[in-house]
Amino acid sequence: MKIAIGNDHAAPELKLAVKAHLEEQGHEVIDMGCAPGERCDYPDAAEAVCGKVTSGECALGILICGTGLGMSYAANKVRGIRAACCSDYFSARLSREHNDANVLCFGARVVGEGTAFDLVDIFVNTPFSGDERHQRRIDKITAIEEKQ
Ligand code: RB5
Repeated sequence: MKIAIGNDHAAPELKLAVKAHLEEQGHEVIDMGCAPGERCDYPDAAEAVCGKVTSGECALGILICGTGLGMSYAANKVRGIRAACCSDYFSARLSREHNDANVLCFGARVVGEGTAFDLVDIFVNTPFSGDERHQRRIDKITAIEEKQ
């Protein structure tokens, strides 16, 4: 799978660790974040990663800041993005199964490396259920977006 990843200055080390973890599993990872020692603003990384997802170049996106919150606020402003800010495995799984989330956000000041690896593994390997009731609700989210 081709996955876009981004981060701000709160998370370059965790971003690099997650990137390597995904590459070890054979995924291609496009890095849109800043490097250790650099400073960057989370909305810029969020917009860059979301653009890779909405263009179809990448199937999924991963965004890491201090809390994951700022990244999720910015990502959810992008038409077609459903970004899930998760620090527990149940939410990460359901964000895919029920909500067909296409971006995962989490915080480098919230979760450690081991939890981050498990969150991304669950997110990347869980398919959308395709259930009609979930699709209907997702379509309603899209309808809200279209009304704005
Ligand atoms: C940056 O200090 C911090 O505000 C950012 O990484 C993030 O946690 C925002 O939501």
